[in-house]
Amino acid sequence: MKSIVILISGRGSNMTALLDAVASGELPLRVAAVISNRADAGGLAVAAAAGVPTCVLEHRGFVSRADFDAALAERIDAFAPDLVVLAGFLRILGDDFVNHYAGRLFNIHPSLLPAFPGLNTHRRALAEGVRVHGCTVHFVTPALDHGPIIVQAAVPVVDGDDEDSLAARVLAAEHRVYPLALRWWAEGRLHLESGRVRVDSSLAAVPPTLIVPAAART
Ligand code: GRF
Repeated sequence: MKSIVILISGRGSNMTALLDAVASGELPLRVAAVISNRADAGGLAVAAAAGVPTCVLEHRGFVSRADFDAALAERIDAFAPDLVVLAGFLRILGDDFVNHYAGRLFNIHPSLLPAFPGLNTHRRALAEGVRVHGCTVHFVTPALDHGPIIVQAAVPVVDGDDEDSLAARVLAAEHRVYPLALRWWAEGRLHLESGRVRVDSSLAAVPPTLIVPAAART
């Protein structure tokens, strides 16, 4: 069975969604470890309670970003995972790190990329008046929030929304698409071809609010 290491910085609700999907048998993979760059990340206790090994690597203890990245890669590689999963990991990772995990590094971003890369996505979406917002699971490449898209989920923006209500709606969608993307990966159905993702999948099982690469429709 393939294994993953999950990187978090905070509450870890996406991590929890993945652990729940593993526990229910929906996600056929092993979570080898959860690593946080913050000792106070709430998700660490959740992972430990689920019996998953955890470790903390505080970025503040490192002089340079490159030193932290190298130490982080060493920790990750000690678990020999097949894939590294960023789940609310609030550190920008350098090119060397990203290239080391080329094709083996996933992220979830709370917007419909390429719209709203970076921070404060919900505030910016509201400020722009968009009517559709959402989230994206993608392969990580050196260009921030710009890697090949695996799956997206769209949610409506409704009158009266504020940042919190919109964030909650998007987060619920995140908790559906991350396990789905990981399941496709675990089943060997994801293919990176010329910088784009092809999914061997029948759309029958995909809820209509999810947007998958066109190649998946065959
Ligand atoms: C999520 O919105 C995720 O998309 C973003 O950071 C947030 C993390 O939330 N990258 P959680 O820690 O998974 O609850």
